[in-house]
Amino acid sequence: MLEVPQPPLSIRLLTPHDAPTYCALRLRALMDHPEAFTSSAEEEAGKPLSWSKDRVKADANKPHDFFLGAFLDDNLVGMVGLQGRYRPKERHNATVVGMFVAPEAGGRGLGLALMRDLLVRAQALPGLEQLDLTVTEGNNTAQRLYERCGFKVFGVLPRAIRVGGRYYAKVHMVLALR
Ligand SMILES: CC(C)(COP(=O)(O)OP(=O)(O)OC[C@H]1O[C@@H](n2cnc3c(N)ncnc32)[C@H](O)[C@@H]1OP(=O)(O)O)[C@@H](O)C(=O)NCCC(=O)NCCS
Repeated sequence: MLEVPQPPLSIRLLTPHDAPTYCALRLRALMDHPEAFTSSAEEEAGKPLSWSKDRVKADANKPHDFFLGAFLDDNLVGMVGLQGRYRPKERHNATVVGMFVAPEAGGRGLGLALMRDLLVRAQALPGLEQLDLTVTEGNNTAQRLYERCGFKVFGVLPRAIRVGGRYYAKVHMVLALR
């Protein structure tokens, strides 16, 4: 079993104070890995800082939504988010989004630590029963990370995204929390 890294790593909820660094890291993720995300750098670069602030702000109407940041020596180097669905019939579901660890901090367990922290928080949310996510087919490092956390593949959407004229399939995964 992989060891979760020790300090100087810390993982905590992001707040609106983190919006500038969150926004910069997210843009870097979208620019450097366009095939890994459904959002694109072009659409997000045009959004004001207030959009990022709103995204990481706690909202009592969306209790299943949060973003976590991984900090190495106080620098934001990784992140992952959870987004709930709030229509009554699907309120027991939430989606893991925006997983990214900067390459200079990669390969030492930060992604796993982020996901484990997210799962502890998700399990503590009453009414939340299962998590889903998508990962681009062929992104084996990310898919293995999710499998280590218990996510199972339940389908593949062919040609889910198109980047630079090339289509990529998305593998859909699910994890029962209780
Ligand atoms: C996918 C991603 C989040 C993984 O983050 P990470 O912090 O490198 O993940 P981990 O360190 O937990 O695991 C990565 C690998 O390092 C290995 N590893 C972890 N700790 C290790 C250690 N202490 N020593 C050696 N290897 C280690 C893991 O076994 C894993 O190996 P594998 O690829 O053979 O399965 C990161 O590579 C990334 O952001 N990629 C680009 C964006 C992306 O694909 N996001 C996912 C969208 S769905």
